[in-house]
Amino acid sequence: MSQATLTRTAKLFEESFGLWLTELMDRTGHESADEFHEEFVASHQPVLLTETLHQLLLQEGGVYVDGTTGEGGHSQAILQAEPQVKAVLGIDRDSRSLERAQSRLSGFGGRFLPAPGNYADMAELAEDRGINQVDGILLDLGFSSRQVESPGYGLSFQMDEPLDMRYDPNGDLTADEIVNTYDERNLGGLIRRYGEEPRGMSIARALIKERPVETTGQLASIIGRVLGRRLGQRVNPATRTFQALRIAVNDELTNVEQGLYAAVGLLAEGGRLAVISYHSLEDRIVKSFFNREAATCVCPPGLPVCVCGQTPRIKIINRRVIKPSDDEVQSNPRSRSAKLRVVQRI
Ligand SMILES: C[S@@+](CC[C@H](N)C(=O)[O-])C[C@H]1O[C@@H](n2cnc3c(N)ncnc32)[C@H](O)[C@@H]1O
Repeated sequence: MSQATLTRTAKLFEESFGLWLTELMDRTGHESADEFHEEFVASHQPVLLTETLHQLLLQEGGVYVDGTTGEGGHSQAILQAEPQVKAVLGIDRDSRSLERAQSRLSGFGGRFLPAPGNYADMAELAEDRGINQVDGILLDLGFSSRQVESPGYGLSFQMDEPLDMRYDPNGDLTADEIVNTYDERNLGGLIRRYGEEPRGMSIARALIKERPVETTGQLASIIGRVLGRRLGQRVNPATRTFQALRIAVNDELTNVEQGLYAAVGLLAEGGRLAVISYHSLEDRIVKSFFNREAATCVCPPGLPVCVCGQTPRIKIINRRVIKPSDDEVQSNPRSRSAKLRVVQRI
């Protein structure tokens, strides 16, 4: 590990946890900085960590929801932070990730409450554990690098795997079913809408002609043949179609909308909701939901007097999205597209 990376790591952890790297290595039983970096930083680097913790206004004895726990990067930071919170309810649809989080956070005992499930159901998941209100909620949307890099998910064109793409291994819909059974209009429309891929219809036509399409590699190569690859193009041409299928399989946009609604309902007065999104479709939903819920009037334009009786439930904390620093983007390129929006329950 270069000296610059080590210094960045040490700074990140000091800012986020109030601990020096050496102290943290000591506590986690890691002898070399390289080993520590590999396990705790490179593969689990939580995005916008310092900014998120700062925005959540953690309270002594407060209860927090991490709606997208993944392997527990943000949850761990919340549990380690000062002032000391009482508990974090850690939700994730992916039981495989949540199990890793659970073993990683076992040192926090009952302060980490794992809750396998959909964050759209956070009110019920909280209630099942005797929690009716919480002091802050984080949603770090989408998927983790581990999910893309691990075998079994079928999320990546870097590995040739069966077409799956489910975060929840028990989910009903797979990418295989979409690619191999949807008609041209529905398949093409889905790729256009969720992938923002202008050539969605041509891709759908080619996929239908080549059915059965069984693996991620086969899918990527058909898309590659349809779109070609421009000289110097760095992004794989299949990226947009993979995004579209992933969003559809996991019903991601509906969950974002319902999750935001549930979160505002669960927050105590003064509690904050922080949402990190990674692409414009998600961010648009978050932005317009926040604007709608923060509005003092939602009457159609042109009415002489307000008749809607709207009472805003939240206030917007940052109108301009918070983005990762250059340093963060350099050490974790995946953070490049992250946007953090924060609101407070009133
Ligand atoms: C960006 S990762 C979160 C990483 C995590 N903040 C960390 O620091 O380790 C997003 C996680 O959200 C999960 N997820 C996606 N949609 C979900 C949903 N509707 N309900 C619960 N979890 C979901 C994914 O399985 C994934 O683990």
